[in-house]
Amino acid sequence: MTARVELCGVALGGPVLNGSGTFDAIAARRAFGDALLERFPFDAFVSKTITVEPRQGNPPPRLWETPAGLINSIGLPNKGLEGFLASDLPELAELPVPLVVSVMGFSRDELAALVARVGERDEVAMIELNVSCPNVETGLVMGADPAETARALERVRPLTEKPLIVKLTPNAEEPPAVAAAAESAGADAVSLINTLKGMALDPETRRPWLGAVTGGVSGPAVRAVALEQVHSVSARVTIPTIGMGGIASGGQAADFLAAGATCIAVGTESFRDPAVGRRIASELVELRQTRQPAFAQSEAGGTPSGGQGSALLP
Ligand SMILES: Cc1cc2nc3c(=O)[nH]c(=O)nc-3n(C[C@H](O)[C@H](O)[C@H](O)COP(=O)(O)O)c2cc1C
Repeated sequence: MTARVELCGVALGGPVLNGSGTFDAIAARRAFGDALLERFPFDAFVSKTITVEPRQGNPPPRLWETPAGLINSIGLPNKGLEGFLASDLPELAELPVPLVVSVMGFSRDELAALVARVGERDEVAMIELNVSCPNVETGLVMGADPAETARALERVRPLTEKPLIVKLTPNAEEPPAVAAAAESAGADAVSLINTLKGMALDPETRRPWLGAVTGGVSGPAVRAVALEQVHSVSARVTIPTIGMGGIASGGQAADFLAAGATCIAVGTESFRDPAVGRRIASELVELRQTRQPAFAQSEAGGTPSGGQGSALLP
């Protein structure tokens, strides 16, 4: 039995997505062939973030394993907008689930170019705006500031009718205020959390381990922070919330759904087990059969986010 979900008007077979940048579906297809398509681990696929220009990413090393997760400083290596449209998009379009393309612009003009070009492609079901980057015009991280986020949304909203998901950064002073600004300016959903800023030192030299000095923390270490932010954001907006941050089991996914998320996403855990999305989906179905009470509705002061806790359909 599956648990169908509707996200921004798009029907999904269930509520389990991948976190952008944490599952390379093109490489997985090469490794596993059509078996990947027959048992695809997610109910929608989110591409890694693309930028207008091609990027090499940050200098190595780019990963550090913490006792309960990862610090990454991958730095968004990608083929750029035209390279993505020409070579990655046709391959991603063969996946058996709706496709979400994640985009990041270093200015509102760049973001507009990305949304306009990606938005005209029929293969794309939704667009995720990764706003965890500095705007070169202001020096501010777009998603750290409600007004900057709203300005970005106002610029791109008229360019496409496709649902726009804003991927919030946990490094903002007040993520619910950013989410509310995104909603007022026309966002159709928010996803959170992106990684928390962190660093690690080389135990031999006591110098920064990562080539980029700092990176983003993910995995079980961030789960409690993510759960709180999903709860407080979901209580503030009426659009759907996609919750992520350290989810590795159906029970943990159920926590995020109970806290107000419509869907959840799995990131770091997919590096350990690329099929984990399917396991989480089936554990969620088993949990639903035990009819656990919804925390969000019973203890959080009413149903947050327009009753998304009830978006799971039989
Ligand atoms: C190696 C790695 C690469 C990532 N790349 C991206 C990316 O390209 N775009 C993005 O929005 N988030 C990116 N993220 C963040 C994840 O999508 C997710 O928001 C975060 O890792 C929290 O979920 P998790 O704890 O389940 O990994 C990346 C995370 C990791 C670990």
